Amino acid sequence: MKFLTVPLITILVASFGSTLAVNLPAIIPLPVKLQQQDGMFQLRPDTRIAFSEGVKTEGEALLATLNRSTGFKLVRGPQVVSGLLDSPEAERDRNRPAIELLLSTNEPSSNAEGYTISVRTNRVWIFAASQAGMFYGVQTLLQLFPPQVFSTNAVKDVAWTIPCVNIEDQPRFKWRGVMLDVGRHYFPVADVKRMIDLAALHKLNIFHWHLTEDQGWRIEIKKYPKLTEVGAWRDSTPPYGARNSDDGKRHGGFYTQAEVKDIVAYAAARHITVVPEIEMPGHAAAAIAAYPEFGNSDIPGYAPRVVTRWGVQPYTFAPKEETFQFLEDVLTEVCELFPSKFIHIGGDEAPKTQWTKSPFAQSVMKREGLRDEHELQSWFIRRIEKFLATKNRRLIGWDEIQEGGLPKTATMMVWRDAKWAKHALAQGNHIVMATTSHTYLDYYQSPAGSELAKGNEFECIGGFLPLEKVYSYNPTFVAGNTAQEKQILGTQCQLWGEYMKDIRKVEYLALPRLAALAEVAWSPQDVRNYPDFQHRLETQYQRYDELGVPYHRSQTSP
Ligand code: ACM
Repeated sequence: MKFLTVPLITILVASFGSTLAVNLPAIIPLPVKLQQQDGMFQLRPDTRIAFSEGVKTEGEALLATLNRSTGFKLVRGPQVVSGLLDSPEAERDRNRPAIELLLSTNEPSSNAEGYTISVRTNRVWIFAASQAGMFYGVQTLLQLFPPQVFSTNAVKDVAWTIPCVNIEDQPRFKWRGVMLDVGRHYFPVADVKRMIDLAALHKLNIFHWHLTEDQGWRIEIKKYPKLTEVGAWRDSTPPYGARNSDDGKRHGGFYTQAEVKDIVAYAAARHITVVPEIEMPGHAAAAIAAYPEFGNSDIPGYAPRVVTRWGVQPYTFAPKEETFQFLEDVLTEVCELFPSKFIHIGGDEAPKTQWTKSPFAQSVMKREGLRDEHELQSWFIRRIEKFLATKNRRLIGWDEIQEGGLPKTATMMVWRDAKWAKHALAQGNHIVMATTSHTYLDYYQSPAGSELAKGNEFECIGGFLPLEKVYSYNPTFVAGNTAQEKQILGTQCQLWGEYMKDIRKVEYLALPRLAALAEVAWSPQDVRNYPDFQHRLETQYQRYDELGVPYHRSQTSP
């Protein structure tokens, strides 16, 4: 697809290596405290980069990034402590300019993900109490350098200077996420890793991986091979610009368990937890097409198939013992692959039409004393929750999981309306704020007309969610008091895949709105302001250019 070519911002380009660029550290998300001082630190080919074993992954990642873009051959140097009988080598090392990563369990930080940075003319220190904190400190340090530090090739003629600063930082929320839907379109492993890299760049720590849909089941389950032999493939897909028609082309793909493990490890090295989502009882047509016996097979005209159009579909799992056995087997394999404490079970948009028509579903309602199909859904979810508890995992689901009564220990992901958040908070449940109003990045970011004028491939599902609106989100607005504020784990943005046929479209829709959401999730509410964010974004665009990721330049006036 064609993307906007982005004019570089002349003032900053002209000033690489000069005082202007280094005087404006454009950190996204904005740190809690940033104090600038006189002077600069300059990275040179002989700068000592020191780190202890405890933060080896973070130190090596820093070395790799610096060496790739500077072309230097920096190596891990010794950590130097002063002593009375210093050798000449130790003396020389102590005086050599250095970047030191210090894992300090004595840090007073109350937040395990916090860090501090001090930059002086001949020394940079990052202190953190955990590897995650160090990882975030390293991300911030990289943003102090000129944007070319993100280049994927060696760049010449750049003064690798950073301003002398003191930074104290820690995140506002524990849950800072991005959801990627791979059900509607399959993306190769390398593309999933690109999204994880983007999440890491913005200090997000949750990658919510939406793995199963009506239009495709994407995770290998050893006990049920037809899930991917049948469920991962569909016969046709609506083309861009013609949502009610068919391209007639087979589409599909899935992740083997080896690939899933690789992705989970890749994310973990970036301090990102992968939260898998296995949809039930709805959004399950692909699974039911593979194993029709687990659907409501006693209704007239039952003929499940992997769906080739978008929109909510009628196929739901049947509330049978065999189906629960199947789902428990699937979740057992899922729990073995994903160390995440939270397992997402979907729960959204499950039409009750098939349960209403199914004599078997009706007999379960009678047997269990359930008043309606909503209570049957809650009964279904509670059973799954109990099963997950036996694996020491916690259930998270979309906000429909409260419709027939919310399980006490379930966490609810609020997508539809703040009223559901208030309802869950009043009952004492934890929530994650993911409302369509501010976090659905599959909505248009400029008015639809201006996007579609560029070509059908710019089509979105609908809606209009400009950057400024994402930035204006305050996820705790639903809390009635400070106790309820603590029940809000955080927030995340959603990349639903109907209108995202390849990863570049995903990135184009994500950026820069994902940066705004990241700042909502990380930075204190009272230090954020939109004009300042927009100013820092000019530098962030240059980083995206260096990384080769497409993005959108917002036009917010219709
Ligand atoms: C959703 O958008 N159906 C969670």
